[in-house]
Parts: sequence; structure tokens; C-alpha cells
Amino acid sequence: MCGIVAYVGGQPAYPIVVKGLKRLEYRGYDSSGVALVDNGQLNIYKKKGKVTELENLMEGKDKSSTVGMGHTRWATHGEPNDRNAHPHPSNDHSIAIIHNGIIENYASIRQNLLGKGHQFVSDTDTEVLIHFIEEIRRETGQSLEASVRIALKEVVGAYAIVIMDQENPTQLIAARKGSPLVIGIGKDEFFFASDATPIVEYTKEVVYLDDYQVAVVSHGELTISDLDNLPAIPYIQTLELELEAIEKGGYDHFMLKEIFEQPRSIADSMRGRSNASEGTLQLGGLNHYMDKLAQAERIVIVACGTSWHAGLVAEYLFEELARINVEVEYASEFRYRNPVIGENDVVIAISQSGETADTLAAIEIAKQKGATIFGVCNVVGSSIARATHAGAYTHAGPEIGVASTKAFTAQVTVLTQIAIAVAKRKGVLQENIYRQLLIELETIPEKVQQLLENADKVKEIAFIFTYARNFIYLGRGLNFPVALEGALKLKEISYIHAEGYPAAEMKHGPIALIDEDMPVVFLATKDGSYDKIVSNIQEVKARKGRVIAIVTEGDELIPGMVDFVIEVPPVHEILVPLLSVIPLQLLSYYIAVMRGRNVDQPRNLAKSVTVE
Ligand code: AGP
Ligand code: GLU
Repeated sequence: MCGIVAYVGGQPAYPIVVKGLKRLEYRGYDSSGVALVDNGQLNIYKKKGKVTELENLMEGKDKSSTVGMGHTRWATHGEPNDRNAHPHPSNDHSIAIIHNGIIENYASIRQNLLGKGHQFVSDTDTEVLIHFIEEIRRETGQSLEASVRIALKEVVGAYAIVIMDQENPTQLIAARKGSPLVIGIGKDEFFFASDATPIVEYTKEVVYLDDYQVAVVSHGELTISDLDNLPAIPYIQTLELELEAIEKGGYDHFMLKEIFEQPRSIADSMRGRSNASEGTLQLGGLNHYMDKLAQAERIVIVACGTSWHAGLVAEYLFEELARINVEVEYASEFRYRNPVIGENDVVIAISQSGETADTLAAIEIAKQKGATIFGVCNVVGSSIARATHAGAYTHAGPEIGVASTKAFTAQVTVLTQIAIAVAKRKGVLQENIYRQLLIELETIPEKVQQLLENADKVKEIAFIFTYARNFIYLGRGLNFPVALEGALKLKEISYIHAEGYPAAEMKHGPIALIDEDMPVVFLATKDGSYDKIVSNIQEVKARKGRVIAIVTEGDELIPGMVDFVIEVPPVHEILVPLLSVIPLQLLSYYIAVMRGRNVDQPRNLAKSVTVE
């Protein structure tokens, strides 16, 4: 959600900043802008719409400034337009800010500043913050840096900010609380960004700023300190990210690339953890906590969106394999209840980005109440990864498409491994089943590959249903969360209304929707509820619904009953979601492309939801 890029060094800042903003486009935004200092003058350019609109606006402008900052805004306060876009200048136009997050107490600060003669040109909370800093500097006579600290102590909310000063063009001041900010350290140059993607092609040395830290780059020196100005030693990490991982590599869209990467990403998420021939399964990050997990009477899973669906899959896995009671909670609901949770509870937070504000807040609440928190995150060094006691990274590589695909299968892979390992430690999993599951896990990448080789079949079905107005997805057991995920994928990128349901629930209401115009996707693989799902298919066919069934290869019954069939290779039923979700990802992708949608950056959505 929103992108921040800033540069100070020896090169012209503008090309670096704009390229960085493009790398961050995947996070979702509605307008963009840059600030540069030309001939001692702070200039701000901003435009509603895509970064290309900003580039058009910048044609013919002076772009020689060696300091600059840019922003892609995802509006929270005030509609998306040129006026509300960032950067925002102070009243006297001498300093400017870019901001990701929300200043919750902006209204009272604004009121106060209006009384002191400030004039606001935007509707944003961000503009209030820069005016507030300006006012503090004026009233106290302190430096800009000190004024920023004073202001941030008064502020309630979340922020990652960067501030530029026209009087001081070798300086950038940045700070964070709740929203991510990474600093890249080059040779006599510094980069600030919301994540490492704009930085990786210039340097691999980075520092992740912590909450309540202020970073100042001035005359080629970086210093980090807290809001009380107590210095912190920057912890410099080396990025493992490679540039190819964040480029499209010949695919039309990042989403398609990421769908097709799954044989590799699933293998990567298992790598070094399970070994079928040796019969071993170890998750390094959780080693010291295996007893805690095995003895847990209850596991609470908190997550949002697709990650929440992975949590629902995990609920079945932990209950079935490890016989542990699991509750799966929307992080946003959990955080605002008074959840009954304590020292004996284990909480698993699942998040691709590791920056989702609701999930982060849910973790903090559970932590305060004494629970042990594990993270299942994709982005290394992310806020959630750092806020948890221990965890397992999913190692899916950067996911750029807003619609989550490879991150979901990686989450399910890792959660499956955790569930198997815990069941083994608990002594409730028979050795032969344990061995069989490890062997079958290793076959998943090649089975996913097989499914992808038949993508054209899914494309043909997508062509037939391109203009459907609604879709229903039905599944039972482990395929129920997959039905939810299939429906979410379609909604997100094609804007077709879609609902996922447990197949048996259909009779309790949704069946009223079925007629010859209603496509129904059934997840009907061979498992314990196969006969039941066959009956559910008949109920839909009896009402003339058009059925697309995802079946196990070699199924001889269902193909004769339905309109379209997509086969998935046979696999142990515990692992089915890793296969059955693939055709659903492809179906939504192709339908969205055929409808001319912006697949990688669907309207209104952000990749990483850093506001609640
Ligand atoms: C998935 O396609 C979504 N765009 C969204 O639901 C996402 O899964 C959710 O916002 C959670 O994100 P996270 O995994 O980064 O925490
Ligand atoms: N709250 C700010 C605004 O609406 C920042 C939004 C963002 O994170 O992009 O302008």
C-alpha cells in the first residue's frame, strides 16, 4: 500500500526515484508525485493516476537535482486527485513530506494550526503533519530534525515518512512507526523505500528502520536514533533479493509469472526442511518451540484475505494430523474483541507481506496477553517476522501481482510441514503415514507443473465464461478454503461477483441463486467427501446450473454429469489444496485478461495493507 522512494547522493535523483516508484506500483496506488530541489528551490510535481502520467508532467522540467523523493499514494484521507497527492509542502513551502499511513489525531492538530494562520490546500492528514513540524520549528527555534522528533511524539497513528528541506539539499530525514521503511546504503549515496525492490539494483546493503526510529542522512552520513535522540547502531543486512525476481521475465503479467513459478516456489518453501528418503522434517526457525507446539491445547491463527484462507487449510491439517484444536480468526476482528487468550496459547500469524496492519496489531495484543507467537511470512525482515517469537519463512520469492498466488501455495506448504512435524513430535501420526506424506509432498512441484502444462484447457473455459456476472465456488473439507480462495481471486481481478461456500451449505440458502446463468465451480477431487459432493453436483445440475468441476485424474463419474472438467493429478487428500487451487488461479487470471482488466494492479486494492 503506497510507495515511498527517496534518494540523496551524487547522481540525478529523478530517474532513480521514478524507476523505484514503478517497482512499487504493485503495492497499489491512485496518484503519484516527486519533490526535487532545483537551484535552491523546492519543486513539487504530482498527478492523479499512474506514474506514467507523472512522467508526462515532468517532460521538459529540470531533473538535475541530486536529492529527490517520490510517492505513490493510496488515499485514506481525501479523494485521489492532484491536490491530495504527495509530496506535501509546509505552509512556507520550504520543507516537504511523503507519508505512508494514517495520522489519527490529525483533525485536532489541524484545528490548532488553523488558529495559528496555517492554510491547507489538501484534505490529507499528511499535510497537517508537515505543517505541524514547521510550526514546532518556528515556535521552538529547534533544528528540523529535533522538530520532527517533537512532532512524532505527539502523533497518534502509523507512518513511514521522508522529509526534504530546500535549505539543506544534502539531507533527508525519515522515520517510521507501523509502516515499513528500508534504507539502502550505496557508495556515497542513500536510498529510502517502502521495500527493497527499488533499491536492489543499486546496493545490497540495507537497514530496516524500526518503529519509533528516526534516520537522518546528511552530508553523506547516516545516523539512526530514537524519538528521544538516543543513538542506535544501524544493523546493516545484505539483501538476498535478485533483480530478475522482481521483473516479468517474458510473461504478460506478474500474476501469470507467479502462477507459473509455483513448481519452483513450492520446492523452495520445502527446501532444506523435509527429506523423504531420510524420513526427516525440520523447520529451523521452530526447532526450539516444537514442544510448545506439540503440547498446545489450542492454536489461534490470525491473518487476512488469502493468508486467512491458508489458515483455514491449516485448521484442517492441525486438527486432522496433530489433533490440536484450532481457531482461525480474521486479524481485524480479533484485535477489536477482548480475545480470551493467555500464556498457554500458541498464535500463528500468516502474512505474505509481513506488513499487514491488522495482523500486526493482533500479534501485539496476543503478545501482551502472554501467548507465544509464530509467524509464517514471505517477506524476510518484515515487521511481522520481527514481531513474532519464532517462525518459518515461506521462501516463495517476491510476489508482485496484487492477487496472491504463489504466496498462498507456499503458506499451505509450510503449514502442512509444521502440522506434520508437530503431529510426529506429539506421537499421534503413524510412521507409515508420516513417510507417505513426506514422499507425496516431494511430488507436489511436478504435479503442479503438470497442471500448468494444461493451462490452455482452463483458458478455453475462461473464454466461455468471460462475461458471466456471478460465480459460485463450492467445496468440502480441505477444499472449502480453496473454494473461498477461488472466489476471492476472481472477484479481485475480474470484478465479477463470486462467492465461496461449503458445498453442503448451499441448501441453506445460496441454492436459490442457481439457474442456467449461474456458473458453479465444484472442487470435487477424490477424498472422504467425494460421494457427498457428487450429490451436491446433482442438486445444482437439477436446477440447470452450469458446472465446472475440478476432479481427480481418471474420475469416470463426474465428467458425465457436468459441463466442463479440469483434472488434477491424484495425491494424498491432505495435500489436495496445493493442486486444486492452481486451475482456479488460472481461471480468474484468464477471465480478467479477457475482460481487459489490470490484472497486476486491480482497482482499489493494495498489495500490502498497512492501514487498518
Ligand atoms: C490476496 O489476493 C489479497 N490481495 C489479500 O487478500 C491479501 O491476502 C491480504 O491483504 C493479506 O495480506 P498479507 O498476506 O500480506 O498479510
Ligand atoms: N493518509 C495519507 C493520505 O491519505 C497517506 C496515504 C498513503 O499511505 O498513501 O494521503
